[in-house]
Amino acid sequence: MTTGCIILAGGAGKRMKSEKPKVLCEVLKKPMLGWVMDAAKSFGFDTIAVVTGYKNELTEEYVKSRGDFATYLQTEQKGTGDAVKRAAEVVKRMDCVCVLCGDAPFIDSDTLRGSFELHQKTKASVTVISAEVENPIGYGRIIRENGRFTAIREQKDCSPDEAEICEVNSGAYWFDSKELLEVLPKLSTQNAAGEYYLTDCIELIGNACAYKSVNPDIVLGANTRRGLFELNEKARQKVLYGLMEQGVEFLTLDGIIISPDVKIGCDTAILPNTVILGNTVIGTNCKIGANSHIENCTVGNNVKLNNVQAYSSTIEDNVSVGPFAQLRPGTIIRRGVKIGDFVEIKNSTIGENTSASHLTYIGDSDVGRGVNFGCGCVTANYDGIDHLRTEIGDHAFIGCNTNLIAPVKVGENATTAAGSTITKPVPPNSLVVERGTERIIENWEKNFKRKRKI
Ligand code: UD1
Ligand code: CA
Repeated sequence: MTTGCIILAGGAGKRMKSEKPKVLCEVLKKPMLGWVMDAAKSFGFDTIAVVTGYKNELTEEYVKSRGDFATYLQTEQKGTGDAVKRAAEVVKRMDCVCVLCGDAPFIDSDTLRGSFELHQKTKASVTVISAEVENPIGYGRIIRENGRFTAIREQKDCSPDEAEICEVNSGAYWFDSKELLEVLPKLSTQNAAGEYYLTDCIELIGNACAYKSVNPDIVLGANTRRGLFELNEKARQKVLYGLMEQGVEFLTLDGIIISPDVKIGCDTAILPNTVILGNTVIGTNCKIGANSHIENCTVGNNVKLNNVQAYSSTIEDNVSVGPFAQLRPGTIIRRGVKIGDFVEIKNSTIGENTSASHLTYIGDSDVGRGVNFGCGCVTANYDGIDHLRTEIGDHAFIGCNTNLIAPVKVGENATTAAGSTITKPVPPNSLVVERGTERIIENWEKNFKRKRKI
């Protein structure tokens, strides 16, 4: 049996008061649509398609960035039933289709698997994933007659009695494709919203089944900023408790935000006000934070990042960075390196056991092993037109306040004298001094004329 997935992502989401489509609003810095796409991917459908609509170019750009997914455009937002019609091609090609909402990020592959098994076992024509919630307001209610599931009633169309029902529609369904194709043209707009409701398919098809999820969170969606905040808070705790189970240490959860795709090894401690995002991987026995922002980085074992901002960088084992350091994209820091306070590194490789302890900028550079940077060194890597590289050989000693004007090369085991501005290649094992001659004028007159405070 072939299975297809259609993710509905065409709605505007006006109440979110955002310039972007609602499905691109983020939970833990990942668009809600991304969560749903990941659940679908991990179920393993034969095909996954996304229906776009409001500001479709933004949604399509995101979908494309996530891999090979088909998109279908719904030019006018006429309801969820109409949105599925736009992807009728998928329904025709597959034996069975699963429809998911792009604005309900907590649907997961286990729930999809459980409901699919029930759908097959009962031979139902449609299976709805439902959940019992404390506050059903805003959701479609599951209507049962004599215990048999017969319809979904939308909030706006509910009678007072129906409004009391707490079993709600998650917006995720399994359909037998043939049956769905037959009823889609029969949907009407005779309802309170004047839209084509996909939920009307239940009554039209009959032979429906409801799979009540044990995890009620799978229905949660966000229509407002406050709703989105609540989803973020729920997801945040879930991720952090999950990491604790894997041996990650937290003294407090204050200000700690970690994206769902981040991986962290055991005995690593995450300190307050630390944000770890994207596909960051961190090894074991590290200390990350406080006050750090780590995004799309690979971090080894026994690494200390104290008050660090790091983006798209690799940090090997036994490295210590910070406090107050920034690693910009393209930085590779080899084992045993020490990067101290107020150091910025960009698009550079720093060799094993090298040290840059204070107030230094290293950009577009290839630095060898065992190099020592004194305080206040700068690679002048930009001439206003191009970015140029600096090369520093193993065991070189870069004196305090050295300016290295790129393109320039410092040979192995060479020394630059403090305060030098280097523009020419420095041979290995040499000392380069580039300074004015020091003069002393004894008893300088002005020293005696200056007004002095006591
Ligand atoms: C829908 C269900 C409701 C369910 C709830 C679960 C219907 C009629 N109602 O209501 O029973 O409890 O989801 O979250 O289906 N979309 C389009 N095109 C459209 C309209 C919507 O692509 O023309 C997309 C939206 O982007 C969204 C999804 O479909 O991702 C659901 O639409 P939304 O308007 O949020 O439906 P709900 O009112 O939440
Ligand atoms: Ca919704």
